[in-house]
Amino acid sequence: MKRVLSGIQPSGKLTLGNYIGALKNFVTLQHDHVCNFMVVDLHAITVPQNPADLREQSESVAALFVAAGIDPAKANVYMQSHVRQHAQLGWMLTTLTSMGELERMTQFKDKSAGKESVGAGLFVYPALMAADILIYNADLVPVGEDQKQHLELTRDLAGRFNSRYGEYFKMPEPYIPKVGARIMSLDDASKKMSKSNPNPGSMIALLDTPDEIRKKISRATTDSGREVRFDPANKPEVSNLITIYSQCSGLSVAEVEARYEGQMYGPFKKDLAEVVVSELEPLQQRYRDIRQSGEIRSILRQGAEKASEMAEKTLTDVQQLMGFLPY
Ligand code: TYM
Repeated sequence: MKRVLSGIQPSGKLTLGNYIGALKNFVTLQHDHVCNFMVVDLHAITVPQNPADLREQSESVAALFVAAGIDPAKANVYMQSHVRQHAQLGWMLTTLTSMGELERMTQFKDKSAGKESVGAGLFVYPALMAADILIYNADLVPVGEDQKQHLELTRDLAGRFNSRYGEYFKMPEPYIPKVGARIMSLDDASKKMSKSNPNPGSMIALLDTPDEIRKKISRATTDSGREVRFDPANKPEVSNLITIYSQCSGLSVAEVEARYEGQMYGPFKKDLAEVVVSELEPLQQRYRDIRQSGEIRSILRQGAEKASEMAEKTLTDVQQLMGFLPY
């Protein structure tokens, strides 16, 4: 069976973008792949985090994984920091990465733009992400469009390692959904929907109440036209809402367009809100149950134990190939 690895940062509240671009695909892939899904706390600390918030967010994101449908019996769910080999391989891969490669990363450029001081961790972040993937020799990495460049760097580093130390790593492939790989902000369709956006109206959080969801969707920007038509170049706002509709209802984009032919934005947005609410309500109920049961800690422990076994094997091989003296 092919191996799958992905991760989500426990910074801020998970959004509908995280769900459609990544989490939903984690759930699909778990049935016929060996899956590792982690909450990447080591990545989250590349920007300052309040310790109490980090702890709460970490547990919350892990519970959301399970609430979204990841079955811990099928896929390992764990904290990145609990599998210590990630950081070790991360360091080794950092030494194979050039400053120029890291400077070209658009996520680094975006996150460091306008900052007086930028942490070195934010800069070397992609080498740790490469380690996350390569430590399991993953075949597939389900991510949204914004992570594509990091995946390309991962493949470059795998190739560099192989040519320097001998064929070892497989070339991981990104698994990017055809529809929904880049869900845009509700207030500005030129920006992706993001958990770090300070305007809560720009995004739907997975734990928003039904009324919050209805309010945010009714206020979402559209255009001065009237047609519910998918045309990202000319109608980016409406196209984004159609994408969300399609991904939360299971209808294709064409089916959504057909359903609203000749109708105005009002009824479309009203229905969209209900479609999103019905997709998220059962997830929220499961989330509350999981948090209440307190079982998430033991799920995380078991996940980390199983993932560590795979990771330790890779780390030992890599150390040997690189010429580290055995312990
Ligand atoms: P993060 O935490 O920013 O986002 C988690 C996942 O959600 C996807 N995503 C989106 N997809 C569609 N539309 C959006 N608006 C949207 N916003 C976010 C992201 O593409 C991502 O798949 N570097 C990663 C975390 C990471 C990782 C890894 C991922 C660390 N190690 C190893 C894969 C493999 C990140 O910051 O994702």
